[in-house]
Amino acid sequence: MNTILAKIDYDDPDLSQIRKAADILKRGGLVAFPTETVYGLGGNGLDALAGKKIYEAKGRPSDNPLILHISDISMLSRIVSEIPKKAYAIMEKFWPGPLTLIFPKADIVPYEITGGLETVAVRFPSHKIAQLLIKEADLPIAGPSANSSGKPSPTRASHVMYDLSGRIDMILDAGATEVGLESTILDITSEVPVLLRPGAITREMIEEVIGKIEVDPAVFLKPSKDLVPKAPGMKYTHYSPKADITLVRGDLEKVVQKINSLTLEDEKKGVKVGIMATTQTKDKYKSGTVLVVGDREKPETIGSNLFKILRKFDFLEVDVVYSEVFDESGEGVAIMNRLNKSAGYKYIDV
Ligand code: TXA
Ligand code: MG
Repeated sequence: MNTILAKIDYDDPDLSQIRKAADILKRGGLVAFPTETVYGLGGNGLDALAGKKIYEAKGRPSDNPLILHISDISMLSRIVSEIPKKAYAIMEKFWPGPLTLIFPKADIVPYEITGGLETVAVRFPSHKIAQLLIKEADLPIAGPSANSSGKPSPTRASHVMYDLSGRIDMILDAGATEVGLESTILDITSEVPVLLRPGAITREMIEEVIGKIEVDPAVFLKPSKDLVPKAPGMKYTHYSPKADITLVRGDLEKVVQKINSLTLEDEKKGVKVGIMATTQTKDKYKSGTVLVVGDREKPETIGSNLFKILRKFDFLEVDVVYSEVFDESGEGVAIMNRLNKSAGYKYIDV
């Protein structure tokens, strides 16, 4: 299959391209589209066959459910069987935006989309192109991240091209995504809502609106058979570049020293080393391929660049990566959740 790559201007979108993409979706095809978090791989969310195509294109296990994307609240009542009371305040505050909510599903949502679950994940993205596409298709659009399964989520159309070219019908390219990490997932079907995946909308921001929530312990700890994440997708190794990543943790000066000495040792053995650095530390590294992920003073820059930098290490064909770690407050919880997964929870303490 020949994948059409269509550039689209965020501020002045060519509506004929949106129409073309919506037609493909209506006919059961697949279109990758930009959102404010990462690029999604869109298909008709009410069509079991489109769901099957999505799993095939990504190489994704079929027990890992998809998120349905909507472009207005009226679409919600078509796909859920109940809207819990607490949901209203949350939707009012955070929709449209990078927050996915779990609802009991309506009968029209196929089990092929929900991975066999009785619940369905719903997200109302704030990205204008995503909204226009969903509106034009007039369908809830199933949209997992548009990467091949196991790779970092795509934050640029070029990432989607690299992973899925020839496997999908079209990509709408509106440039880099803003947030760079996937949406926060909140399960509101239980008495006390549970945060299943951390993102840019933080626990504190949600608690300010509805009071205490729980956080799935798998957000912080390595999943195992005794600690099965409530979001099925969170149990898989993920975000993994080809290189072996190790996180170095402790006092920042000592971390830099340790990474410098590890790099020297490795390079003597002919190992190609990548270093994930920050604006604050980049000039302190003596060798290795140093990439700056962001500014410690502005954690959102780290969230925004993380997946791009992980992919860049792949592109540069480094054998190992040493990475600094980041403050686990606010969006830092989401950053460290993804970084931990990409490193397989491998740490050196200094
Ligand atoms: O920001 C995002 O959410 C992006 C953009 C494209 O919207 N999408 C995304 O989708 O990250 P995906 O499929 O890569 O991740 C969806 C996560 C998976 O971990 C999946 O297991 C979980 O949501 N999930 C989906 N439906 C669920 C459900 N009914 N109950 C619990 N977890 C669910
Ligand atoms: Mg994903």
